[in-house]
Amino acid sequence: MEPIENINDYIYMDNNATTKMNIDCIKIMHKWHLFPNNSSSSSAFGKQANKAISLSHDYILDYVFGNSKEKKEYFVIFTGSATESNCMVIKSTVEAYNRIIKEFEYENDENYENSCITHTYNNQNNNQNNNQNNNQNNNQNNKIKIPHIITSSIEHKSILECCQELENSGQAEVSYISPNVFGSINSNIIEQHIQENTCLISIMHANNEIGTINNIDKISEIAFKHQIPFHTDAVQTFGKLFNHKQGIIKPPYPSAISACFHKFNGPVGLGLLILNKNFVEGYELKAIIHGTQQYGLRGGTENVPAIVGGVTALMKISEDRKEKNDKMKELCIYLFKEIKKVVEIQNSNISIIKYANYMTEKMSEKEKNNAKIIFLGVDFDNEKINRFEKSLPNTILMSFIPSEKVLSSGKTFCNIKLKNLLEKYAKIIVSIGSACNTSLKTASHVLTAIKASPDIKRGTIRISLGDNNTKKDIDIFVETYIKIISGNQALN
Ligand SMILES: Cc1ncc(COP(=O)(O)O)c(C=O)c1O
Repeated sequence: MEPIENINDYIYMDNNATTKMNIDCIKIMHKWHLFPNNSSSSSAFGKQANKAISLSHDYILDYVFGNSKEKKEYFVIFTGSATESNCMVIKSTVEAYNRIIKEFEYENDENYENSCITHTYNNQNNNQNNNQNNNQNNNQNNKIKIPHIITSSIEHKSILECCQELENSGQAEVSYISPNVFGSINSNIIEQHIQENTCLISIMHANNEIGTINNIDKISEIAFKHQIPFHTDAVQTFGKLFNHKQGIIKPPYPSAISACFHKFNGPVGLGLLILNKNFVEGYELKAIIHGTQQYGLRGGTENVPAIVGGVTALMKISEDRKEKNDKMKELCIYLFKEIKKVVEIQNSNISIIKYANYMTEKMSEKEKNNAKIIFLGVDFDNEKINRFEKSLPNTILMSFIPSEKVLSSGKTFCNIKLKNLLEKYAKIIVSIGSACNTSLKTASHVLTAIKASPDIKRGTIRISLGDNNTKKDIDIFVETYIKIISGNQALN
């Protein structure tokens, strides 16, 4: 199959989903593809592959930890995706904790009841799907001793579905922390949920849909204070927000960090997991994918061309990162201001409403009746908050709600139609957080978590800019978007 010919005709604004590969990354991958690359081989080619992996490890650790002395306490595992990295850290931690509990019980039956790793768990209040046999044995003492995970309800599906599977099979219990209206997780609430048997806290650095950045330094401090491993899914910040050699995270560092390369112009199908040695050794973490490679923690011959290409992409994306991020921030603000300007000057039937005001119905009569555009996440024009300290520089999640008159006639807006029309009229690629059929299983869990109404969900699209987007792209977007919504073209 041949790909689409004129990629440059498109205005690509879906960079949180994936990015196109950097040309230097493609070139170096091509070069390495000309060699037989098995790092386990003792041949000259094997040695070369091994060295490339080892240099890539060093580069990544430098990138995250800079010159901090803690760098020596970490190592890198390459995986097939961030999804795999997320599942690996969660499943192997739960497996280890369950193993430790069993070993402890076996060795020291009397102390078991009082141990810091036991937990009284009332089966009736929890999952009915729990593994029956497991439960029967444990229920003999009316106690189930299983590990507890703290995560949030806005994590990527790889985390949520992994946690749900562990809950359903009775291997773990999970607390899902809800975000505030901006989509951020309060670290004090995390602390309130810590239990004696909490074995892992997993909270994402920034959310891929709403763009809000969590205070992972504070969460890390809390985890450290309670001696609980902390994992962060840094997919949306790694490469994009971290400053090369300066890091943006501070000690105490998380015990585990997941990322992947295709979000910053590297190859798809390559993820990474940065692990703290004490965490791995203390828990005796075991492989999920077995084999001898990568310290026995992740089997499978390493994809050396992708690794070298991925690290090249990381080097390239890091160049002038601050300037590139500043440019994207400006474009986001420009988009917001242009929409505001067009609406105020040309279209008095549309109002821009703050999400919190919509939720609390703090609107004038006119605003209530008008069609509405709502920017979700951290407010653009909240003077008290610097939006981009709390939000990704490239992400805008916005919703369109038709006027009361249109809604009361039984019509609803459809973000899928809007997305398709943007592509049809102007070759603009954006994504939708949630399908316009809000009852679908695919409806955005992030919008649900911030308690967005069905009308908000039906109108939401996500714009995620990349380094190559221009002011002209934003102008074309604003013009096309306003045309579609003003003509009510995307109504069901
Ligand atoms: C926050 C977050 N975590 C994990 C993933 C999964 O990454 P991958 O595509 O490498 O599995 C994504 C991808 O969209 C993401 O945005």
